[in-house]
Amino acid sequence: MCGIVGAVAERNVVQILLEGLKRLEYRGYDSAGVALVDTNNHNKLSVVRRTGKVIALANAINETNGLGTIGIAHTRWATHGGVTEANAHPHSSEERFAVVHNGIIENHKSLRDMLTQKGFTFTSDTDTETIAHSVALHMQSTDDLLSAVQAAVKSFKGAYGAVVMDQTTPEKLVVARSGSPLVIGLGIGENFLASDQMALLPVTRRFIFLEEGDVAEITRTSVKIIDGNGDIVERDVVDSTVEHDAGDKGGYRHYMLKEIHEQPLVLRNALNGRVSSEGIAPGIFGEGADEIFKQTSYVKIIACGTSYHAGVTAKYWLEQYANVQCDVEIASEFRYRRSYVPANSLLITISQSGETADTLAALKLAKEIGYMSSLSICNVDGSSLVRESALSFLTRAGAEIGVASTKAFTTQLAALLMLVLSIGKHKNMDPTVSANIVKALVSLPAKLEETLALAGEIENLAEEFSDKQHSLFLGRGDQYPIAMEGALKLKEISYIHAEAYASGELKHGPLALIDADMPVIVVAPNNELLEKLKSNVEEVRARGGIMYVFADKEAHFESDDTMRVVQVPHCMESVAPIVYTIPLQLLSYYVALIKGTDVDQPRNLAKSVTVE
Ligand code: G6P
Repeated sequence: MCGIVGAVAERNVVQILLEGLKRLEYRGYDSAGVALVDTNNHNKLSVVRRTGKVIALANAINETNGLGTIGIAHTRWATHGGVTEANAHPHSSEERFAVVHNGIIENHKSLRDMLTQKGFTFTSDTDTETIAHSVALHMQSTDDLLSAVQAAVKSFKGAYGAVVMDQTTPEKLVVARSGSPLVIGLGIGENFLASDQMALLPVTRRFIFLEEGDVAEITRTSVKIIDGNGDIVERDVVDSTVEHDAGDKGGYRHYMLKEIHEQPLVLRNALNGRVSSEGIAPGIFGEGADEIFKQTSYVKIIACGTSYHAGVTAKYWLEQYANVQCDVEIASEFRYRRSYVPANSLLITISQSGETADTLAALKLAKEIGYMSSLSICNVDGSSLVRESALSFLTRAGAEIGVASTKAFTTQLAALLMLVLSIGKHKNMDPTVSANIVKALVSLPAKLEETLALAGEIENLAEEFSDKQHSLFLGRGDQYPIAMEGALKLKEISYIHAEAYASGELKHGPLALIDADMPVIVVAPNNELLEKLKSNVEEVRARGGIMYVFADKEAHFESDDTMRVVQVPHCMESVAPIVYTIPLQLLSYYVALIKGTDVDQPRNLAKSVTVE
């Protein structure tokens, strides 16, 4: 989703801004722009914007010869106003103030009316332009940019992470955060800011994460932060622990393929020091976690997208193995409904980014309505969700660049199995079951390596999907959410319509759709539901459906005219959802490759959805 980069330095910042934007490309965007106080053009405010990729913007800036020691830049993912150059950020006012903004100013219509009445002329359809003119309005009664921004934000309703630059004071940037993340990057004699630390890793690894309500003034040598109460505050400086370099595809054609193949490695990292043949290590969910788990009698999991599918899988596991009641809900639903909170409820949020607006809002609500405690399972240390939850657990997947989530999902599942063991300890979990889960987890990285060897076979099979418009994914029990995730992956990157059903629901509707043009993908490990699943397969066969079955050898499926069987390495039941995810990821990747879509940045989608 939208990305922000800003810099104030002694050197030319154009390349820093462009490199920052490139590093944010993975988040998804449709246009990009840069504003500079242009030393090659009499220190005038120079704004260059382009629809399409950052490379088009870089070419345009090359042509203008733009140069400056202070600048702001943005990748836009359209919310208000179409994808046009005029709607791209930065937006400016009076050829003096430039603004980049993530989030949505919800009262932009009334602000636009008020500002128009006061003589400001709008040149875009965006909500963001109201920020530029509001700052200009408040600068009529002060000569201090920080005070003008503080006054302006008081009139905004909604979410914003915004950066303001004033051409007449080209030594400072002013930023404001409410609802959309912003991080300040500290250099030596230069400072930076961004919506995501990834953007700044080539120039610094020292960061200050702004908090809700903060407004800050940043110069080359100073950072002044004022909190929501108007007090000057010091915020911690954090050394980044992000290890992976976003710029490296490691020889793979796409980040997504690289990330699929990284899964054995990142799973090893995720398990390291937490589970071994000795069992689950104590205290891995943080200080006080055991006390909280002991008291927990109900778990509510909240997430969006792929992370939601991890949550649905965990519901099966927590109830089946750890004897604790669990419900799962999509964050955007939970946050806007009145829900019942049983006593001793633990709220668990799952998120790759830790910045998903709906998930953050759900956490905030849960605190208000009486949840006993909160735990975040997240891939990004220092993210808003991690900072705002009582307990946090990092999935250690490393930076995930492909918009379609892969390794983040399987590490979330591993984290959730570790949670099952940690909560189960306090809930009379059967020791044989927990010993089996430990064993399954320890051997999981090797099992994933074995499963990745199916890539060639799945690449061949993908040919058969290239002319299909629709598809159906079937699974039962804890494989139902895996079927959901498989369908999501296929639709996200190949644009083939895909639906997932719990196989038992087949005859309650989707059976009507079955014909030779509707491939049916079945996940069939060898578990107690296998015979039921086989009956569902026969129902599809009887209606002329063509099936692609991912099955355990012991499940005894045979390929024939109507069924292609891919044998998945035999694995223990508890980790089967993780193992069966791999072939479905590979299938969607190879189908997308044949269809020639933009695998890493699928159309209309964003990696981190920071607006609701
Ligand atoms: C977006 C991404 C998905 C992701 C979802 C939730 O839709 O494209 O891949 O699953 O957001 O994101 P989170 O960072 O909270 O896991």
